[in-house]
Amino acid sequence: MRSVFTLIISVLLPLAVLAAPRETTTVLAPGGPRSPDDIHLVPDSGSLLHVGDAVHILDDNGNTIKHITLEAPSPLLESRALKTGWITYASWFNQNASPIKNYTASWTVPPVPKTEHGQTVFLFTAIEPGAGGWILQPVLQYGPSSAGGGPYWSVSSWYLAGKSVFHTAPVRVSAGKSLTGAMTLTGVSGAKYSYKSRFTNVDGTTLTVNNATQLVLKEEGENQ
Ligand SMILES: *[C@@H]1O[C@H](CO)[C@@H](O)[C@H](O)[C@H]1NC(C)=O
Ligand SMILES: *[C@@H]1O[C@H](CO)[C@@H](O)[C@H](O)[C@H]1NC(C)=O
Repeated sequence: MRSVFTLIISVLLPLAVLAAPRETTTVLAPGGPRSPDDIHLVPDSGSLLHVGDAVHILDDNGNTIKHITLEAPSPLLESRALKTGWITYASWFNQNASPIKNYTASWTVPPVPKTEHGQTVFLFTAIEPGAGGWILQPVLQYGPSSAGGGPYWSVSSWYLAGKSVFHTAPVRVSAGKSLTGAMTLTGVSGAKYSYKSRFTNVDGTTLTVNNATQLVLKEEGENQ
């Protein structure tokens, strides 16, 4: 797994060096490497709110902590080419008039890997808009990522919108624990759809996204 990731870095680096003379580093998020500047922690009981072309991060009192102007969807997210970090995935597109209301999946935390060499793996279910580019997902992670974590299993919810990445703080879970990842539609206002993603039995994993676009594509996948 690491060799594939190293390959991505080594392919990207010459481009980055051409584009920016100073040293650039990337951090890992589901779907691929990112700039550390684009990673945003959402505080416990906080939420995200789409306002125009920006996303506001709100604290648990509803006060805006910061707002991030979204850019065009990242090609990294639209690409599902295997061997670019993606290991496998399956998806289903909702063509019905009725929106996806509650997408849940239960799975068990696997044993910790037999060997440890700094690897990272993400296992998740997700929903996305029809055009791709954005993704809301409860993620089981082994290894370190831009959200934190380390050589153990941890869970958190992520929302990737364009090149911006929002996540809850990772919570450590043990091998053998049963997980239920759920993405629930919490409200509709005109063309604006609100959702929350969480592991129903792990506190501190809820990520609320208000007034987003409709998320019509269900997915489950594994990447590194
Ligand atoms: C969605 O499914 C989860 C997991 O089964 C459940 O805990 C939750 O109550 C459901 N929510 C709604 C709104 O149906
Ligand atoms: C979401 O958008 C609707 C319609 O524009 C608006 O009435 C509502 O206040 C917004 N929600 C939040 C939490 O601001």
